Formats: sequence, C-alpha cells, structure tokens
Amino acid sequence: MPDIVISGTGLYTPSESISNKELVESFNAYVEIYNTEHASQIAAGEIEALQPSSAEFVEKASGIKSRYVMNKAGIVDPHRLAPYLPERPNEAQSIQCEMGVSAAREAMAQAGKTAADIDAVIVAASNMQRAYPAMAVEIQDALGIQGYGFDMNVACSSATFGIQTAADYVRAGNARSVLVVSPEITSGHLNWRDRDSHFIFGDVATAVLVEDEAMAPAQHWDILGTKLKTVFSNNIRNNFGFLNRASPEGVGQKDKLFVQEGRKVFKEVVPMVATMIIEQAERLGIDPQSLRRLWLHQANAGMNRLIAHKVLGHEADADESPTVLDRYGNTSSAGSIIAFHKHNEDLQAGDIGLICSFGAGYSAGTVFVRKVC
Ligand code: COA
Repeated sequence: MPDIVISGTGLYTPSESISNKELVESFNAYVEIYNTEHASQIAAGEIEALQPSSAEFVEKASGIKSRYVMNKAGIVDPHRLAPYLPERPNEAQSIQCEMGVSAAREAMAQAGKTAADIDAVIVAASNMQRAYPAMAVEIQDALGIQGYGFDMNVACSSATFGIQTAADYVRAGNARSVLVVSPEITSGHLNWRDRDSHFIFGDVATAVLVEDEAMAPAQHWDILGTKLKTVFSNNIRNNFGFLNRASPEGVGQKDKLFVQEGRKVFKEVVPMVATMIIEQAERLGIDPQSLRRLWLHQANAGMNRLIAHKVLGHEADADESPTVLDRYGNTSSAGSIIAFHKHNEDLQAGDIGLICSFGAGYSAGTVFVRKVC
C-alpha cells in the first residue's frame, strides 16, 4: 500500500477585514435603530429591547480581534448587517470557485504539480453556495484537472474529513493525487444581528494536496494516521436547506442561519476532542505529550487552550499551539489548515504534529503528520 503524504497547502485571504471595534460600532448602531423603531412596543413590555455588544467582551470570550470577509460594506451597514454577494451569471466563475482556485493554485505550486498530475478534487466546506453542479466540478474545470470531483460537508470538520477521504482514495488506488479545497464564506451563514454570535466567523479558502509519497516532492508531510468521529448534537445547528429560504431580515428565521448553545458546545466538545486525540496518538504509538505542534481548529481561544493543555499535559505556548483566530476569526473547516499552512516551515525533519478539527455534528477529525524534510 502506498504511503500517503501532504505535499502542499494553499491559502486565499480576502482583502477586506473588520476589527471588533468596527463590528461592534455597526451592531450597536443597528441596536439603536431597532430600539428606537420599536420604542412603544418595548415600553409596553411586548418585546424586549436589544442589548449592545462590546468589543472587550468579544475579545475576552473568543480571542478574536478581527476577521476577513468577502464583503465588508454590507456587514458593517447597520441597516443591513449581511454581506452583499450578488449572484453571478452562470457563465461567470462563482465566488466560492474563485477563492478555492486561488488556494488550490498555491498548494499545487508548493508541491510542484500541474493539473495533469491531479486525479480528483474534493470541496470540503460547511456551506456550498448552490446545490449543484458540485463546486468541486467547477474548480476541477477551472484548474483543467481530469478525473472527478465532488462536494462534502461536515461543518467545521470538513477539511480533516476531506483529507482522510483523499487518503483513502490514494490508499485504495483510485487516485494518486487529490486536492482538498475548503472555500468558507461563513459570513453568509452568520447572523450578524445576533449579539451572542455576531463576532464569531470570518471568510477564507484553503487547499491541501494529498498524494502518494512516490510522486511527492522531497519536502512533504507523512500522514501517520487519521481518525474521524461524529456524535449527534443540536447544540450547533443551521436549518437552512433546499426546503426553506433564508433571509437576513427574517426575525422568525434565525434558525436558517448559524445558531449555537455556546456554553454547552464548550463543555461537551473539549473533553470529547482531547480524549479522541490522546486515544488516537496512543493507537499510533505516539506519546501525545511529545507532539511538537498542534494545529487546532480555530473556534475559540479558550477551547484551544484547554484541549492543548489536556493533550500536552501543560499550558501550551504559541509555538506549540499557534493561533490564527485573532486575525481570521473562526473560519470553520479552514481554521486548522490555515494554522498548519502558516506555522509549519520552522519544524525539523522527524517532528510530529497534529491537525485537528471539531464542530457541528458534533464532528471531530485528527490528522497526525510527520515532517519529512
Ligand atoms: N457583547 C457583550 N456581552 C455579551 C455579548 C456581546 N456580544 N454576547 C453575550 N454577552 C453577555 C451575555 O448576555 C451574558 O451576560 P449575563 O452573564 O449577564 O447573562 C454574558 O455575556 C455571557 O454570555 P455567554 O453567551 O454565556 O458567553 P460565553 O462566555 O459562554 O461566551 C462563546 C460565548 C460563544 C464565545 C462561548 O460560549 C464559546 O466559545 N463557545 C464555544 C463554541 C464555539 O466557539 N463554537 C463555534 C462553532 S465550533
């Protein structure tokens, strides 16, 4: 059976960014407009006044300082609080395709690969902008890749599930080189009017090239083992689907956007993920405390701190568990891949690290990797 490796990664970062201060200013302007417009109902006790958000709370509760977005103007407009992402004609490249292609090209260049070397494209992300044709097939076409492509969604764990799926195809001999692309436009599913969660997400795209070691460049990462887990939970949920329609204005439609019970998620997911990492490390004969670096899902600084502590047996520093959450926010499935992409070059040959995701489902994925050179 072939040894399977990660031979390249790529990242697309949108040009626009929103600081907590800017976000909170526009949210609070919306609150003021809403409360003024509904003053009589609020005074009569018919509805509750909306409460303002605070930049200090956001940074303290999440570790997020700013987030990149595909459209800033619509999000910071207090009369809208949703991105302007106009539909494009069918003849034009779709926005998710454009982002994905940019990240994919970087991963391919890093591995010294052309379209002719690649057999399949998996788009693994928490939201697809349309039902079909698959985003992966459009990206495949844009890159000029033969073979096949398909989309998959395991929310924040999509990328690690995609990596295992790609590795399985290579292991089975169905492909030798597979691109896993995660174009995350989370600003489209975030309820920017919800004080409890309006600060959480950001937009980005990542790509990972998974290959048979025999065709990989000298510089690559061996995949030592992967493990996936899902446990059903309603604590992170989005009921948007083809049987209903979402509207940022629809107060009655909050469940057609991202909703969560943040505290429950925190309490339930941290032990689940820490235990899963430790058990899988032991199965692979790796002392979890010897892991050189953890590239964790970037949802919340507190969750990452606790998970890293449980796995490493001590408080992890920024070198052991780097964060990109402060600048990128939670980018769903892309988070751990951004962390890996930006923070792997300084490791030495032989160093072992872990790419790990967790999120809605619940879902969690681990990918143990060893630097080859
Ligand atoms: N600005 C100011 N205050 C806010 C606020 C905001 N934007 N949002 C909530 N608050 C207030 C609440 O009203 C509450 O006030 P109270 O104590 O007077 O009732 C207080 O802050 C705490 O609110 P709570 O929602 O319990 O916050 P928290 O400390 O649990 O932090 C999360 C919220 C979401 C950051 C946290 O639960 C979390 O990180 N969960 C992990 C889940 C996650 O990140 N999921 C992403 C998908 S994987």
